[in-house]
Amino acid sequence: LDNGLLKTPPMGWMAWERFRCDIDCKDDPENCIREELFRDMANRLVEDGWKELGYEYVIIDDCWMSMQRDNQGRLQPDASRFPGGIAKLAEYVHDRGLKLGIYADMGTQTCMGFPGTTLDKIEIDAQTFASWGVDYLKFDGCNSNPVEQMLGYPLMSKALNATGRPIAYSCSWPAYVGGLPPNVNYSLLADICHLWRNYNDIQDSWDSVQNIIEWFSQNQDELQPTAGPGRWNDPDMLIIGNFGLSLEQARSQMALWAIMAAPLIMSNNLRNLDNSARAILQNKAAIGINQDPMGIQGRRLLQETSHIEVYWRPLSYSASALVFLSRRTDMPFLYHTSLAKLHYDAGNYEVFFTGKTVAGLNASTEFTVSINPSGVVMWYIYPEPSKQTDTLDHQHYKAS
Ligand code: GLA
Repeated sequence: LDNGLLKTPPMGWMAWERFRCDIDCKDDPENCIREELFRDMANRLVEDGWKELGYEYVIIDDCWMSMQRDNQGRLQPDASRFPGGIAKLAEYVHDRGLKLGIYADMGTQTCMGFPGTTLDKIEIDAQTFASWGVDYLKFDGCNSNPVEQMLGYPLMSKALNATGRPIAYSCSWPAYVGGLPPNVNYSLLADICHLWRNYNDIQDSWDSVQNIIEWFSQNQDELQPTAGPGRWNDPDMLIIGNFGLSLEQARSQMALWAIMAAPLIMSNNLRNLDNSARAILQNKAAIGINQDPMGIQGRRLLQETSHIEVYWRPLSYSASALVFLSRRTDMPFLYHTSLAKLHYDAGNYEVFFTGKTVAGLNASTEFTVSINPSGVVMWYIYPEPSKQTDTLDHQHYKAS
């Protein structure tokens, strides 16, 4: 949706994957869905260096609502878990220079059974969110049929626009109709939404991450061209810092999400993240690649019989990113290739990776990268001699 919002993929934090629908505040006060959770995460974003890197959205997911609408037909938060109300929470978040996201569902009920937004409720819900100062809406699609979705998603886009408040609009629509053309009309989606969930929910496992990468890569001819400034494919949340990924696998998720121009929306416990997870999520090279202003989504270039895969994304100033992913499970693999084999033009290149710069790599020169099992090697690369105008920008990627 080309209205000036989300020129680069959104970055932030969302409750769902890590905190789900935990509403047991009596026995699990630290983890239940209530206003304290979101205030805590807002504080962490500001105090632990996230905000200055671009992580700015704090997004409420399902299970925030009261089971009843109010006497004017408006959605309202559960009074015991959000006693201050959403407008107060938005103010708290805004006071810290952050933005607030919220969740609703195009249908009779949310996925977890809370009040849905049927067609007749779309306008009032858009107005309610705007009146609270909400900055982002995740509009899910449980409990509706394709005809209702076809009407409802464009209608919500119009209704949000009519509020006059800039609200980023995330549509789960494609995920409910198979994610691919002809069932999904991506040019229509790009006109009405800023981002969209194409595929299954991410779970806390490497299997799930691999399955998502595989689906997006297999369907890249359909999906890759639809992305760009203001319109992003969404392979779902970053689960780095939770329980299911090894260090290598966490690095792989970050690198692939950078290549895919994916939203960088973490779902983890920012209160007690370990340092290695923090370092991966705060990696400036990965964030710089993800947030490249051209906004061209990357692609899988090669799948070798050795189970090494090569991903590539073109970036501003003639730069590009390469990710070598190992799907092996044995030992670090020595992968031999050259830039020419990866379709780079003749000439010399400078490469930045794992904190160091290598100059003068000729496209025809054979080189070897060592890739750990279920791990990646990520390169930021640009032609030499680098044009004087580029220097600052390359420094930005390198500053990690
Ligand atoms: C769906 C969405 C998830 C989450 C849950 C909430 O499954 O895809 O991201 O919002 O609903 O119930």
